Amino acid sequence: MIKIWITGSTGQIGSAINKVLNPRDYKVLDTDDEVLDITNLEQVLNFCKTNRPEVIINCAGIANEQECSKNPELAYKVNGLGARNVAIAAFKINAKIVQISTDDVFDGTNDLPITEFDKTNPITVYGKSKLCGENFVKEFATKHFIIRSSWVYGEGKNFVTYILDKSRSREHLKIAKNQVGTPTSAKELARFILYIINTNEYGTYHFTCTGRCSRIEFTKEILRLANISNTVINEVDKIDSEYSMNHPSYAVLDNFIIRLENEYKAKSWQDALSEYIKELAT
Ligand SMILES: NC(=O)c1ccc[n+]([C@@H]2O[C@H](COP(=O)([O-])OP(=O)(O)OC[C@H]3O[C@@H](n4cnc5c(N)ncnc54)[C@H](OP(=O)(O)O)[C@@H]3O)[C@@H](O)[C@H]2O)c1
Repeated sequence: MIKIWITGSTGQIGSAINKVLNPRDYKVLDTDDEVLDITNLEQVLNFCKTNRPEVIINCAGIANEQECSKNPELAYKVNGLGARNVAIAAFKINAKIVQISTDDVFDGTNDLPITEFDKTNPITVYGKSKLCGENFVKEFATKHFIIRSSWVYGEGKNFVTYILDKSRSREHLKIAKNQVGTPTSAKELARFILYIINTNEYGTYHFTCTGRCSRIEFTKEILRLANISNTVINEVDKIDSEYSMNHPSYAVLDNFIIRLENEYKAKSWQDALSEYIKELAT
């Protein structure tokens, strides 16, 4: 049995990992910010010293760009220094560490899928603070997996639930016409994390579902799968869409290293979305 510690375990990705893992294979230590604040190095070190996890999956973070730009100190503290603390503790106990990161470390001006070898250039506070976290993890923990994903939806509030809620209350939607990405279910991301932690192939990975779409196509597929037909979609510029304004225009990550090693097959974004919408309905 592998002992894993999941920080931010009540968030979208933390809870998806808990759902997907087989409890016969893992002993799981879950903490949220009420139990353990990753910005407190002493707490993090003590937790590791006492519990000695073999793998730490750092799902704790401030994932909302609006919150990050309103409070940059908090963003850097949690996404940057918090990740540093977890990395220092992982190194001390010789544990593997998974740091979840984002396409927002790129500026989104590309028009070709972004590989792990492309140059980062974050433009938002969120993206900058997440890059800071990535760099600390690389600096302090040898046995690291940095996994960048994008357009993630899982348990809790996200773009899919936003579209469904607005549609059910008969509001017109304002969706960006100039934003492209790959919707990725938290469960699919969780399955990849559980696969990669069982290897020693450390480094930085891009992981999303396969395929790509515009926000408009994503919205239409959500509505189609949920059998909602009468919603009005206004196609607007990214800057006028509350969900898209703070994120890059081009967010398509290429799962390049996974492809190079021909080692893992992700679901298509449509199949993963279908699985998610079926689960919401049950
Ligand atoms: N969602 C996406 O599209 C996406 C894409 C790529 C990468 N990521 C990254 O993946 C990570 C998890 O994302 P998510 O979507 O699961 O976010 P989430 O649902 O907001 O979960 C984040 C979790 O971190 C906890 N947390 C916040 N500050 C903390 C602290 N100081 N100490 C310990 N825990 C703390 C939160 O607790 P509270 O809820 O109590 O604040 C929450 O449980 C984030 O680092 C995010 O940057 C997300």
